[in-house]
Amino acid sequence: MPLPVCYLNGAYLPLAEARVSPLDRAFLFGDAVYEVLPVYAGRPFRLREHFDRLARSLAAVRIPQPMPHAGWNEVCLELIRRNGGGDQYLYVQVTRGAEFGRSHAWPEGLAPTVFAYANALEPAPAGLLEHGVAAITAAETRWARRDIKSTSLLANVLLKKLSADAGAYETIMLEDGWLTEGSSTTVHVIAGGRILTPPNGTHILPGTTRGVVELLAERLGIALESSPVSAATLRSAEEIWLAFATRGLLPVTRLDGSPVGAGSPGPLFRRMHAAFGAYVQELAGTPSL
Ligand SMILES: Cc1ncc(COP(=O)(O)O)c(C=O)c1O
Repeated sequence: MPLPVCYLNGAYLPLAEARVSPLDRAFLFGDAVYEVLPVYAGRPFRLREHFDRLARSLAAVRIPQPMPHAGWNEVCLELIRRNGGGDQYLYVQVTRGAEFGRSHAWPEGLAPTVFAYANALEPAPAGLLEHGVAAITAAETRWARRDIKSTSLLANVLLKKLSADAGAYETIMLEDGWLTEGSSTTVHVIAGGRILTPPNGTHILPGTTRGVVELLAERLGIALESSPVSAATLRSAEEIWLAFATRGLLPVTRLDGSPVGAGSPGPLFRRMHAAFGAYVQELAGTPSL
């Protein structure tokens, strides 16, 4: 498959020709933050929310904002256009920049490296929605600032590999008996007909997709509670959903080898998933910012 056109430090060029220095602190330290956002029919979805979160990640790690939201919007729209429109996903990364010295305490005045690309978003295999996915649980092993969307993802990578090795789709983390999130997803648990999801804080990434679930739960009249979820509640859930930008919502139908609820996607999932699709349609053709 040919590589797409990317954006690097102000220029659009074939990704195959893009080069960054091995002295870039993203390469040496994982000293960078990022975003991944979906594009439906050529329109970036939740662009404002993604770049609000990027701005918060940048501020938290003290990397200057390379451009305002309007600039990001332009870069995204140009990448989408140059890569043929349709359904895509956008990856955006800002690193602290390159420096010879490898100083943990970085020198002031570095020029951030700004990189972005768009790629086709393949439709989810039908089986994923029809049958749901399997997940396993594992002990939380990440750092204490999981609200920052950092490219330092070694713990997430190792955690995700555990599920892949087990033939499952996602690893759901538990910390001291409480649910945090999936290795790359926000977890929602249905109990007593209500949607439960852990509150945002430093212990999880504030997902953009959970915001859509919140909005649609209100529209659908389904109660949603953002409060700590115990391991016991997770294990006795009627339904479990994964929320993340590139797939929207997926039902978990097996957890650690046992069926979740009836072992098939539940009625609330079906309602929420349909409402999600309708919401994407509703936004079609409206400005992305
Ligand atoms: C650790 C983690 N939690 C949650 C999410 C979901 O966030 P979003 O809905 O913005 O994709 C992600 C997405 O990549 C993630 O990496």
